[in-house]
Amino acid sequence: MPNPVNVLCIGAGYVGGPTMAVIADRCPHARVTVVDINADRIAAWNSDTLPIYEPGLDEVVRRVRGRNLFFSTDIACGIRDADIIFVSVNTPTKNFGEGCGRAADLQHWEKTARQILANSTANKIVVEKSTLPVRTAQAMDRILNSNTRGLRFEVVSNPEFLAEGSAIRDLENPDRVLIGSHETPEGRRARRAVADLYASWVPRERIIESNIWSAELSKLAANAFLAQRISSINSISALCEVTEADVDEVAYAVGTDSRIGPRFLKASVGFGGSCFHKDILNLVYIAESYGLHEVARYWESVVRMNDWQEARFVRRMLANMFNTVAGKRIALFGFAFKANTGDTRESPAIVVTRQLLADHAHVVITDPKALDNARHDLAGVDGHVEFEADPYKAAEGAHAIAVLTEWDVYKELDYKRILESMERPAFVFDGRNILDHRRLFELGFNVFPIGKSPLKQP
Ligand code: NAD
Ligand code: UGA
Repeated sequence: MPNPVNVLCIGAGYVGGPTMAVIADRCPHARVTVVDINADRIAAWNSDTLPIYEPGLDEVVRRVRGRNLFFSTDIACGIRDADIIFVSVNTPTKNFGEGCGRAADLQHWEKTARQILANSTANKIVVEKSTLPVRTAQAMDRILNSNTRGLRFEVVSNPEFLAEGSAIRDLENPDRVLIGSHETPEGRRARRAVADLYASWVPRERIIESNIWSAELSKLAANAFLAQRISSINSISALCEVTEADVDEVAYAVGTDSRIGPRFLKASVGFGGSCFHKDILNLVYIAESYGLHEVARYWESVVRMNDWQEARFVRRMLANMFNTVAGKRIALFGFAFKANTGDTRESPAIVVTRQLLADHAHVVITDPKALDNARHDLAGVDGHVEFEADPYKAAEGAHAIAVLTEWDVYKELDYKRILESMERPAFVFDGRNILDHRRLFELGFNVFPIGKSPLKQP
């Protein structure tokens, strides 16, 4: 049994909560505490209704909460007792001042660093779990090690690669765990201590150790590469629609090249989520700040292509619905940015809804997990919006359905029943290519997939 260790995580969000639950589950020798300034969030983590939906999360939390996993608002006490402190606070895009709309807003990070310094009475390892601009550790070092009390803090970068909807699976069986540190004896000792935690369940060969700047930059690069694949296939989807090629067939043919691989080539209405936009824009900002304008333009185009794909989706709806949706009821199937999560941050559904409302459509939103967040996202937006848990009711009297999230439940609906309750001609715009398009067409729908020829009724 390894030596007991006290682990603290500051930030009980989508990353902090699940990651610490799995560490506690797999490391019985670790006492893991998760703290947050948001008392409601902590109360939810301590209740039967966790603050986030993630398949498998409830089971893990139920197993370890109160055993070696604790949720608390007592940040000072947590810091005092910890040997290793993970910081997974939010690092959103700055919406003010210099770098507005691009740079990462590091105010939460810096506050946390100062809090760690103020409440520490012994040396600690501080782990960057949040996604941060490359070279943030330098600032952290300066803040933490500027103390005159003889305390020494070793900053380690351990970016998180989990995806929402599969977070528990990703954490339990990661492709890799990346841990970067300064290449000094103390730095290497610190990164080994963090590696030892993961080694309780992750094979050593999947734990990558690197210098700290490589670890910080690899996280931004990994998200940029993933998003770039989606923008690449989405750009091809537009070409497919005008050439009678089929984007799924093209993606399959391209992805069977083992050098390219099949994953992340699913054409869609666009990528969403809290990180792809913000991390690429941050990469763009960093490149620009080093004078690397071509690098900045290159990565910026990935986001621009995504914006274009989202706007194009609505333009296609309009063009095929006789150039007007004013007063027409339109059912949006799905509002989450992807299936199996209630998270709606940067969801393409937000853009689609706003554009439809700008064209005076009556928008009805249905989603199995994201209606509360949808209500929050659209608070104060002008126009006619309804929220309806039942997809059959959402589609009643609608002129069109737009599938915006790839929830399995939408594949299994009775579309004959749905068609009977809709206005004619009835349209389906499948922004995720998950439905059986031929069958919908045979039922009587006009079907518009992404990156495929439409199936229009005569
Ligand atoms: P989140 O907004 O869900 O959670 C962040 C939490 O930090 C919030 O609960 C907030 O109250 C808390 N917080 C902020 N300042 C604090 C402070 N001073 N003291 C204590 N708590 C504080 O964010 P998230 O989605 O968990 O993301 C966190 C970081 O992880 C981000 O940098 C993100 O880029 C990165 N990341 C996210 C994902 C993901 O799937 N969501 C995946 C990989 C990496
Ligand atoms: C992504 C990365 O996959 C994680 O590795 C990373 O840790 C995380 O961002 C982060 O840093 O926050 P996440 O955003 O949760 O994870 O979900 P993804 O599965 O990557 O999907 C992102 C978006 O791309 C979704 O809107 C999804 O529907 C879309 N997507 C994904 C496509 O349109 N096509 C695809 O082929 C794959």
